[in-house]
Amino acid sequence: MAREFTRVGVVGLGTMGAGIVEVFARNGVDVTAVEISDGALERGRATLTGSTDRAVAKGKLAEAERDALLARVDFRVGLDALHDVDLVIEAVPEHLDLKQRIFAELDRVCKPEAILATNTSSLSVTEISVATTRPNQVIGIHFFNPAPVMKLVEVVRTVVTSADVVADVEALCERLGKVDVTISDRAGFIANALLFGYLNHAVGMFEARYATREDIDAAMKLGCGLPMGPLALMDLIGLDTAYEILDTMYRRGGRDRRHAPAPLLKQMVTAGLLGRKSGRGFYTYERPGSPKVVPDEYTPLAADAALADGARAIAKVGVVGSGTMATGIIEVFAKAGYEVVSVTRGAEKSAKVCEAVKTSLNKGVVRGKLSETDRDDALGRITWSATLEHLADVDLVVEAVIEELSVKKALFASLDEICKPGVVLATTTSSLPVIDVAMATQRPADVVGLHFFNPAPIMPLVEIVQTIRTSAETSATARAVCAKLGKTGVVCGDRSGFIVNALLFPYLNDAVKMLEASYSTADDIDYAMKLGCGYPMGPFELLDVVGLDVSLAIQRELYLELREPGFAPAPLLEHLVTAGYLGRKTGRGFRDHTRR
Ligand SMILES: NC(=O)c1ccc[n+]([C@@H]2O[C@H](COP(=O)([O-])OP(=O)(O)OC[C@H]3O[C@@H](n4cnc5c(N)ncnc54)[C@H](O)[C@@H]3O)[C@@H](O)[C@H]2O)c1
Repeated sequence: MAREFTRVGVVGLGTMGAGIVEVFARNGVDVTAVEISDGALERGRATLTGSTDRAVAKGKLAEAERDALLARVDFRVGLDALHDVDLVIEAVPEHLDLKQRIFAELDRVCKPEAILATNTSSLSVTEISVATTRPNQVIGIHFFNPAPVMKLVEVVRTVVTSADVVADVEALCERLGKVDVTISDRAGFIANALLFGYLNHAVGMFEARYATREDIDAAMKLGCGLPMGPLALMDLIGLDTAYEILDTMYRRGGRDRRHAPAPLLKQMVTAGLLGRKSGRGFYTYERPGSPKVVPDEYTPLAADAALADGARAIAKVGVVGSGTMATGIIEVFAKAGYEVVSVTRGAEKSAKVCEAVKTSLNKGVVRGKLSETDRDDALGRITWSATLEHLADVDLVVEAVIEELSVKKALFASLDEICKPGVVLATTTSSLPVIDVAMATQRPADVVGLHFFNPAPIMPLVEIVQTIRTSAETSATARAVCAKLGKTGVVCGDRSGFIVNALLFPYLNDAVKMLEASYSTADDIDYAMKLGCGYPMGPFELLDVVGLDVSLAIQRELYLELREPGFAPAPLLEHLVTAGYLGRKTGRGFRDHTRR
């Protein structure tokens, strides 16, 4: 029989604690909510009432339910109020000495049979537990932010946590409507170990002015379907908390440089820019605690004003190539009203691409997304050719041929001879340096990367890659074109992986390393990222879709260019590729797809 938890205690009512109180009270458990001072207690109470009032306003909670929920919470100052609880969850700031002091005190105050739990994200639960005389009743219960929304709970058992305590806590998580994964005591557990390297890398990109905060966040939301961009997520987590988590992970997790907090983080914390809770972090909020972003001095000008700034007029566009990307890009431009000249290496290939574009447009008609007239107009705007000379009078060329530098360089040299002056020459490369391609021409200022995502007609993102030679006019033209295509163009520098792949693939590689180290299973790791962070797919699901060979190639490029030891491809990924387990396309990758 699982233990009954009739009253629990929560210590610290900040970002996490207030949410954890809400989770328990919503599920009919009485809560003693404890803070350090009257002021902090009132802030915690205000957070809880604010959150439950919003739930009522959204129709997610009845007024009577809210009142009952609030009546279950007893707000108190000081730990002595916890003498009669069955379980305590501590959610005070991420400092080991503070947590140890609190646990020693809880050990003195609480009933001998009470379970003492920490919500720490990165500190050692074992080290916290030894501050008590009952380490076998100490456990990690790691909720995700915002606690009432995110389904995942990581249950962290130390080498001494008793099996009964683990089972009781697992049953409790179920009662709270949460999904738990039970794991051992390692820095960052599953989700944060995979998340924080990525978050810190994004801060580093912003700090190096590689891209703007808006563009970094838009890239990860639109390119990967994440619920929030990394910098907005940092603001939600709280920059002080994020700093402490990174710092602990760096020290506990083998001094991986990727966890050494970006210097900017420390500066922001020192300056009191803590994220949403202080009203300002990477973004500025309406007021402290508000989720609403308001414009500040870094907010880009209204899109139109920026676009008008020197963009060249583009009416006719050449697309070179006959693969998946070229086919999608031809469709995108034709649908947006551009005249398109498609150039392939022969009439047969042109016929195939033409067929594919027709099929895709027809699908749009069947799904009611495109009228028959619009389809016919789009097709009527495309001319099919096998001769580069037909690009002599286009205003923009988009190259989407095979991902080989020598081929792309030769093509750009030819375009340089054929195209009229003032044309913008774009490459869709996802891994080659754009500058190499640009220098194959006599006009590197007119060359830019336009990195579309697959499938191009659907994915809303385009990375606009500026080399050190790209002119402002070329960049402005690329932005204007993306806007007319109905895509979000994000501008970044010419570095391996641009924004999305540089942030995404090291995380996937880290997940493989975690699996390889037998810390957890592929299923639990996928759950953790989906239910803890709201990702649309877990890392192993995504790797199997993208293809393990493609993922390995991208990871190798990143490693070769950036020489970051943490980016070295996971040996397990290499072995699976060698074994021909490439993911869905071969029926087997991390999972066996033939049996499902
Ligand atoms: N922020 C997140 O996204 C997140 C997610 C999961 C877990 N965590 C973990 O949760 C814990 C709390 O983080 P947070 O972001 O909520 O921090 P926070 O700074 O928002 O809140 C901490 C609260 O603890 C209170 N406090 C400090 N000393 C206290 C004491 N002696 N007694 C009682 N209350 C005290 C503070 O007044 C404050 O209200 C940390 O261990 C953190 O790593 C955070």
